[in-house]
This record gives sequence, structure tokens and C-alpha cells, in this order.
Amino acid sequence: MTVRIITGDCRRVMPAEGPFDMILADPPYGDTSLDWDKLVAGWEVAARENLKPTGSLWVFGSMRFFLKMGPVFEAAGLHMAQDVVWEKHNGSNMHNDRFRRVHEHAVQFYRADVEWEAVYNEVQTTADETPRTVRRKKRPPHNGGDAESVYVSEDGGPKLMRSVIYMRSMHGRAIHRTQKPDALLEILVRTSCPPGGLVGDFFAGSGAGGKACQMAGRNYVGAELDPLMADKARAWLGSDLFGRAA
Ligand SMILES: C[S@@+](CC[C@H](N)C(=O)[O-])C[C@H]1O[C@@H](n2cnc3c(N)ncnc32)[C@H](O)[C@@H]1O
Repeated sequence: MTVRIITGDCRRVMPAEGPFDMILADPPYGDTSLDWDKLVAGWEVAARENLKPTGSLWVFGSMRFFLKMGPVFEAAGLHMAQDVVWEKHNGSNMHNDRFRRVHEHAVQFYRADVEWEAVYNEVQTTADETPRTVRRKKRPPHNGGDAESVYVSEDGGPKLMRSVIYMRSMHGRAIHRTQKPDALLEILVRTSCPPGGLVGDFFAGSGAGGKACQMAGRNYVGAELDPLMADKARAWLGSDLFGRAA
């Protein structure tokens, strides 16, 4: 298993690393006028072109971001499959005339030229609070009406994980200002990347996606534009540029 962080622009460095079983993207949302929050144009096409037919792309963002970017994902040849909400224990007070924001969205896309049923997606379960993969006899269409009856667990019992996931934010422990909890990313990785597969993280930041892959036993390559951040991520993951443990 290898875990690597490459310093560079994802649009330039990631095509040489694919194709990916799963792509993770936590780009700047472009919701504020802050210096580091500028939208990055064109990464969606690079993601689509480097996604295996069985693969999917999980993107973090705000509702505002997805309303703005919906047509861009469609134009890149990506269909939306589903969304989950990450509920944090605390949040940000950007404006005092709005609710305190304690959630983010993660939206899953898949290639528009493949059927959803062909996409690897083993939704995790929560019977004993430990996310586990459950094989189902029949894969239901993702956009059917009353699809629940089609889900038959061969293992019996455990419930599909809920689409609203509560998890403490990294506040006070983070090495990146918008770091996602690695345990949250681990759920997405276990769901959408087969064991031993390859995850490409287009906006690696702290390398939390790499930590998730180490926990889940998946290979990982992340791109991070900021060289200082990339160094911190490598140090945290205990890997050099080539994925070897330091
Ligand atoms: C929202 S943060 C990602 C945080 C990360 N998911 C984590 O949990 O630590 C976005 C990151 O993307 C980086 N970035 C911005 N533009 C980029 C680009 N074109 N290619 C690669 N990284 C980029 C920024 O430096 C920033 O660290």
C-alpha cells in the first residue's frame, strides 16, 4: 500500500497518476472573498478523464458551491449520485445575521457514460457503530422511488449508514484550517474504493484523505499546491514523496 503527496497543481500532476478507483476533492468553495477561497477552474474535467468506469468522485462543498457548480459537473460528463451531510460539533460564525454553520455537504458523482449499477459503491453499515461493508443480493437503481425493499443484506441485520453523519470537527487538532476528519473520509473511502484500490485526492491539504486510506487499506495519491502544507502532510502521514515510510 502506498500513500503519497505530490506538490503541485492537481490539474497538471494528477493525470499522470490515474486512473483512479475513487477521487476525493475538497476544493476551495469560492464562497468568501478570502485569499485562499478562490474557485479553481477546470479540475472537474481532469477528474472525469482520470476516473475508472467503476469509479466515483466525492466532492466537499457548501450548498452555495454546488448550486454554482452543478452545470460545470454536468458539462464535464459527471452525473450526481447522492449527497451526504457532515454535521460538526461546532461551526463557523461567518455572518451574525445567519445561522451558525455546522455542516458541510459531500456529493458523489459518477461518469455520465456508465450506468450507476456498474459503479463500485458498498455503503457502510452501522449495526454496532462500526462501519462495515455489506454485500447485497441486488443493487437497486439510485433514483428509484421506494428502493429500500430491494436492499437485501446477505449478512442480515445491519442498517445502511444514514446520510447525515455526525462527527467532531478537527478544531484544535488540525494542521490545516479546513481539515476534514479522517474518520469521515474513511467512511467514503471504504464505500467507494475497493480494498487495495487507488484514491486520488485533488486538493490534499493536510493529507487527511491519506490518513483515511492508511486506515482503510487503500492506496492514495494526493496533490497539494502549497509546498509547506504538502510537507506537513507528508510528515503527518509518515511518507516521503514516493510513499515510502520516513
Ligand atoms: C479545502 S482545502 C483541503 C483540505 C483537506 N481536505 C484536508 O482535510 O486537510 C483545499 C486545499 O487545496 C489546495 N489547492 C488549491 N488549489 C489547488 C490546486 N489547483 N491543486 C492542488 N491543490 C490546490 C489548497 O492549498 C488547500 O490546501
